[in-house]
Amino acid sequence: MQKESKYPELQSRREKVSLGGGEAALQKQIKMGKMTARQRIDAILDDNSFFEYDMFIQHEAREFGMDKKELAGDGVVIGTGKINGSPVAIYSQDFTVMGGSLGYKHAMKITKIMDYALSLRIPLIGINDSGGARIQEGVSALAGYGEIFYRNTMASGVIPQISVILGPCAGGAVYSPALTDFVFVVDNVSKMFITGPSVIETVLGEKIDGESLGGAKVHSEITGNAHFYAESENDCFKQIRDLIDIIPANNKQSAKSETPKQPAKIDISTVVPNDPSKPYDVRQVIKCLIDEGEFVEVMERFAGNIVIGFGRIDGETVGFVANQPLVMAGVLDCDSSDKAARFVRYCDAFNIPIVTLEDLPGYLPGVDQEHAGVIRHGAKLLYAYSEASVPKITVILRKAYGGGYIAMSSKHLRADFVMAWPNAEIAVMGPEGAANIIFMKDIRAAEDKEAMRQEKIKEYKDKFSNPYVAASKGYVDAVIKPEETLAYVKHALEISKNKVVEQPTKKHGVVPF
Ligand code: HXC
Repeated sequence: MQKESKYPELQSRREKVSLGGGEAALQKQIKMGKMTARQRIDAILDDNSFFEYDMFIQHEAREFGMDKKELAGDGVVIGTGKINGSPVAIYSQDFTVMGGSLGYKHAMKITKIMDYALSLRIPLIGINDSGGARIQEGVSALAGYGEIFYRNTMASGVIPQISVILGPCAGGAVYSPALTDFVFVVDNVSKMFITGPSVIETVLGEKIDGESLGGAKVHSEITGNAHFYAESENDCFKQIRDLIDIIPANNKQSAKSETPKQPAKIDISTVVPNDPSKPYDVRQVIKCLIDEGEFVEVMERFAGNIVIGFGRIDGETVGFVANQPLVMAGVLDCDSSDKAARFVRYCDAFNIPIVTLEDLPGYLPGVDQEHAGVIRHGAKLLYAYSEASVPKITVILRKAYGGGYIAMSSKHLRADFVMAWPNAEIAVMGPEGAANIIFMKDIRAAEDKEAMRQEKIKEYKDKFSNPYVAASKGYVDAVIKPEETLAYVKHALEISKNKVVEQPTKKHGVVPF
């Protein structure tokens, strides 16, 4: 590049635009502990890899005398760059320019970079720091958001779309992220809501601050709108780089292969207690299977009863879905079903094989869950696994009861390989509940009811609560020792690389939403 001093006009124009909304607004942004739009891009991308476009775009609003107002770059920075050498497209909204609000030209810059990302088949990263549709531009601003939502939808399942929420984001600035694959939030910086606290107070008379309404913790722990939570912007940017590194750049490419590493030195046979009522951390089992240090957990703080994330086995990316006995015994409920189903669909869209680790007592019963729609939410997981045509490998670690057995990538939903550990219990329900129902008459008639109950529980366990009934029917392909798991999983992944599935021709399915 030529030295800029030779081109004073270019230099002064660049400097002016780089100031965004001006010195005072910049100072306000810094005071709030926030980086500027360009600093954020530089911090996410490889050093000196960013190339900016449309820096000198001017807004075209005629309403409210806005045409007299200059808006640097119309409040958004767009360009392309690299993360660990791989290309990405990126935009970053500038809150110092009219609160990062989205006017029509601002939207056209975003849609331009979205179009590049889609046609070049590279991931798109959107940094959102915006009050939503620019009120002064009226329907033109709404049109801009419509164009963005349409592109988000068209790009879904073709390229990874990552949204980073780095300020108070309202309206369209949260709906676009909701249409993308992964949403990142930062404590005390990110806020997401359809309408902000002042609108809520005006319309409903309800008083609430931005953080309590839609802060990072709210969305990563309660609503499930956010997939990654960070303590600081820099921490967030490292997480984005780690994610980009482990996922494919598009739906036609594989993720980058890494040099295979040994898993962590943990004795897998000691991780899962024999007593089916005892909890343990299923992440320990994952650690025994993946190349050491290579687990990127998704939605770590939401629906902890299921663990999802990307790891590498023999240097290749794999998606993990694992019941977490540490939280609510690993049951499936509305939130964990949604969480897992979406992840299964992501893996399927991007050709990432899925390893499912199963240990659960089934779907969570109760009025709350029924009224919250557990039928509708739970069905999403059945659908997602059935639909997924990527290699699907299931290991039943311990309990596999009822609907949970079917839903967690069973043979019946077309898992390719199902392995079970010797202590696995595969049945319609746990022995205690089952014995109380099917042997009720014997228990009632017995003199010593408790002794009879225990006898019947044992009888049930011997007959049904083991992996051998399922194995005798071919629903379990192999009963394996825990220490054989990695070898079986590696082999299954290796031989499934060219898997072909014939499915009925259709436009698309209907159920998951
Ligand atoms: C125009 C806006 C704006 C907007 C903020 N500003 N939002 N200008 N259109 N949507 C301007 C402010 O006037 C102010 O300008 C500057 O940005 C900074 O905003 P502040 O309010 O001072 O900042 P803060 O106190 O941090 O509050 C941020 C905020 C609040 C929570 C985002 O500004 C707010 O509630 N804005 C409106 C949010 C909203 O309801 N949007 C809905 C849009 S509808 P000055 O000149 O004073 O510095 C939408 C439709 C999409 O998006 C459809 C979805 C399906």
